[in-house]
Amino acid sequence: MKAIVVNESGNIEDFKEIEADKPEVNADVILIEVRAVAINPVDSAIREGRMGFKLESPMILGTDISGVVAETGENVTDFSVGDEVFTSYKVNRGGGLAEYAAIPQKYVLKKPEKVSFEEIAALGIAALTAYQLVNKESYQVQEGETVFAQGGSGGVGTYTVQFAKQNGAHVIATTSRNEELLQSLGADEVVNYKKEDAAKVYANKADMLIDTVGRGTETLPVVVEGGRALTPAAPISEDKAVERNITVDRLVYQINTDQLNKFANQVERGDLKVVIDEVFPLTQEGVQQAYQLSVSGHAAGKIVLKAE
Ligand SMILES: NC(=O)c1ccc[n+]([C@@H]2O[C@H](COP(=O)([O-])OP(=O)(O)OC[C@H]3O[C@@H](n4cnc5c(N)ncnc54)[C@H](OP(=O)(O)O)[C@@H]3O)[C@@H](O)[C@H]2O)c1
Repeated sequence: MKAIVVNESGNIEDFKEIEADKPEVNADVILIEVRAVAINPVDSAIREGRMGFKLESPMILGTDISGVVAETGENVTDFSVGDEVFTSYKVNRGGGLAEYAAIPQKYVLKKPEKVSFEEIAALGIAALTAYQLVNKESYQVQEGETVFAQGGSGGVGTYTVQFAKQNGAHVIATTSRNEELLQSLGADEVVNYKKEDAAKVYANKADMLIDTVGRGTETLPVVVEGGRALTPAAPISEDKAVERNITVDRLVYQINTDQLNKFANQVERGDLKVVIDEVFPLTQEGVQQAYQLSVSGHAAGKIVLKAE
């Protein structure tokens, strides 16, 4: 099968299309013919060695995958060849940037008919992280609260704004250039962080800060005394938080198939929007362009690769 792999250097220019072995289909595995794969910042952290591990060689990245069932292992009874499916499997396994990916059946979900392969692939890590930020135990966003969503127009941010609205919050979201997008997602106030010093202008306005950028410490003044702040990115300074009795934590997302199913149904009903900045072809050149956009840190929503 064709696969787009990256060598030990991990550099974007070193992504290369090769002929790789088709993955083995063990008893509990579903072989998916890949139709779309979404990009996540963690892919770049893996290829650059920042996660402290690399994938097996040849390194085939890509966790959030959609496609069609091509083959099933002998223990698989709930899926048949031809079913349209999606998955968000383990980041340390990857496998998406290829013609076929072999995924254990318990991580595979049926794709609603009305949702496209690109949209369903774009849920994955970003939607799970956003949902878990908004609903984390003892941090859960409550009706009537004000949430400051830093990085509102990013992959995690676009879902964070919508999930916080679903919980009934007043949402203030930041962007440098996607004000209209954030309004269309339901943000009540939009801050252009290049024009306004949010920490000053919005001081003491939010019950909760959700920082998806990694600049939570400098934005902490937006939180009221006794409030809370959560990030999936660089940790927020506990010392600064303690000064004003603010509870802080860093979230590590968990794979959750019930949540993914719930998001898929919401997308099908039109209750959750999937924002995709750009769809690139799943080719060597397309993969390189997609990762260039990802590392720019300024994509609006998700970046997706589509099999041709
Ligand atoms: N711990 C976990 O389990 C976990 C899970 C998922 C993600 N993450 C991390 O969460 C972060 C967000 O992920 P993502 O997928 O949402 O990334 P992304 O799509 O690349 O996020 C881009 C967003 O960051 C904003 N941004 C960039 N530079 C900024 C700056 N200087 N000040 C303010 N905003 C800025 C961009 O805004 P503009 O383009 O409007 O300027 C855009 O909204 C990443 O660090 C990722 O590694 C962690």
